[in-house]
Amino acid sequence: MEEADAREEYERLVEEIKRCQKCPLHAYRRNPVPGEGPLNARVMLVGEAPGRREDEQGRPFVGMAGRLLTSILEKVGLPRRTVYITNVVKCRPPGNRDPKPEEIQACLPYLLRQIRLIRPRVIVALGRISGKTLYEQAGLRWRGISRERGVPREARIAGVEVVLLATYHPAAAIYNPRLRPLLEEDLGKVPRLLGEHGGRRFRSLEDFFPS
Ligand code: URA
Ligand code: SF4
Repeated sequence: MEEADAREEYERLVEEIKRCQKCPLHAYRRNPVPGEGPLNARVMLVGEAPGRREDEQGRPFVGMAGRLLTSILEKVGLPRRTVYITNVVKCRPPGNRDPKPEEIQACLPYLLRQIRLIRPRVIVALGRISGKTLYEQAGLRWRGISRERGVPREARIAGVEVVLLATYHPAAAIYNPRLRPLLEEDLGKVPRLLGEHGGRRFRSLEDFFPS
């Protein structure tokens, strides 16, 4: 897709999310949180759902969990401004409860469109809800966050070949500081994964066997 077309399609997507009433979460939100970051980002981070601060500001990961995430990203050489950040659901569940399966299903088409538009090389799933949802989309079996985290998987999601890496949610690492070095270790793998998978995208067999 040409850059101008991608920008236009992205703006359409954001407008749709702002007007969306496809699940009950729309009734509680102050601001939907579509996501943010460069449309040519090679890395996409996917959290669970907006929290209170995110709902107030309409931006992802701007509360406590966001501060921790931003500092770890800096530390591992992956500045926040270079990555695209979004969530599985775009509106805040009341009281920060987990999004329900039917809410996740209702909102999923937006995430899949974001993946098709941005075509990231690496997708990092933050936490079990995001991990399970993206594994399912990739046709991979999810055996729980503590078993899957830190293990990069080649995956095809929304028709895009990516490396999918699940890790702990930053909010979990605030609640349980012992998870923090593990979250750092996992995010620290992303620059290397980009080195291995971040080059030219092979679109078809023709790229391997030019006629
Ligand atoms: N937690 C999330 O999963 N997403 C946010 O945007 C903020 C906190
Ligand atoms: Fe629409 Fe998603 Fe918000 Fe539900 S959470 S109202 S599906 S944007």
